[in-house]
Amino acid sequence: MSRSIRRRPLAFFMKIKLALLFSLASFLLLPTLVNGQVDRNALALTPPMGWNSWNKFQCHVTEDLVKSVADSIATNGMKDAGYQYVVIDDCWQVSRDLNGTIVADPKLFPSGIKALADYVHSKGLKFGIYSDAGSKTCGGRPASQGYEFQDAQTYASWGVDYLKYDWCNTGTRNAEEAYSTMNRALLATARPIVFSICEWGSFKPWLWANGIGNLWRTTGDIHDCWDCKTEYETGFVLLLDRNVGLESFAGPGHWNDPDMLEVGNGGMTTSEYRAHFSFWALLAAPLIAGNDVRTMSEDTRNILLNKEVIAVDQDSLGQQGRRIWKKDDLEVWSRSLSDGGRAVILLNRSKAASEIAVTWEQIGYPAHLDAKVRDLWAHRDLGIFHDRFSTKVDSHSVVMFRVLP
Ligand code: GLA
Repeated sequence: MSRSIRRRPLAFFMKIKLALLFSLASFLLLPTLVNGQVDRNALALTPPMGWNSWNKFQCHVTEDLVKSVADSIATNGMKDAGYQYVVIDDCWQVSRDLNGTIVADPKLFPSGIKALADYVHSKGLKFGIYSDAGSKTCGGRPASQGYEFQDAQTYASWGVDYLKYDWCNTGTRNAEEAYSTMNRALLATARPIVFSICEWGSFKPWLWANGIGNLWRTTGDIHDCWDCKTEYETGFVLLLDRNVGLESFAGPGHWNDPDMLEVGNGGMTTSEYRAHFSFWALLAAPLIAGNDVRTMSEDTRNILLNKEVIAVDQDSLGQQGRRIWKKDDLEVWSRSLSDGGRAVILLNRSKAASEIAVTWEQIGYPAHLDAKVRDLWAHRDLGIFHDRFSTKVDSHSVVMFRVLP
């Protein structure tokens, strides 16, 4: 009797201790685990930010390149500005071994992908990789069709945090099935791995990919130009047009992806790049830099590190902006922000400078309101404006500002 009296309080305290530990663990894991499973949407509550090798380096990827890029991101201000994922795109893989495990090019990645992921993690960054839902990647390397669960396990064992999954050589495969299969494979690893769907908008992923991927490409590949067109690639304002109407499909955890950034790759002027970056932020697009971040010009740095524009992209409301006015080559776009304000872009696509105006009514406020306007590129409060704001916008340029009543 006396023994059981002595024991009961001990068991009682043990239970309390366990309950506390359990609640603490559930609290810490809450953002990513639901019923013991990784919660897909919780992995990207704001659009992912990082760097990807493709736009600048295409197939010329090596472990030294990725390490030096991670070194730069960790020290050049990008990490502090929110760039987190360092992603190797196509051409890192050469074959499968006898067990079917994917093999990295031993000449280009002599230390192996796990060591590289460890290196990137040691810089306080996250590590991403690329594969494809078909028989071969777009670069002709072994892809993941039929190997989804094995590849996902391999990635998880290497410490991969982000997978970009392409759509070349998929034949008659159903896109929703293909991406759901890889999503299930990733979730089965229990490692939080952001899933980037790259099927170029072919089967309207915005209609089915919420809950499967964290971002989905809405278009074919970006080309480093304002509005040019090649067989497979298009300039950034044309990609912008193709995202009109898709606004309501994006939100925390699931984003429209108009492709990666070309800022700093040399095909556009500084003001065109400023426009490109402004729009990606207004569209709540993933901000995945695609330039050589080890050797950036001052102009490129000032664009990629503009914290006021990045804050628009990363706004917690997660509302994708929309075009609210267009007349010929002049446009006004706006996005609601969590503080009740708006981010606004005045866009001039024409060859000559032009005055563009926005009224407070156009952006959802009552007319005759007094509102503060702050220029996000000049980093300057422009004053309090009644009813509307109007300014001159240069050719192929934007003016981007926040409005706060
Ligand atoms: C496709 C994708 C690109 C890139 C290449 C790699 O074109 O859309 O972003 O990943 O494949 O081969």
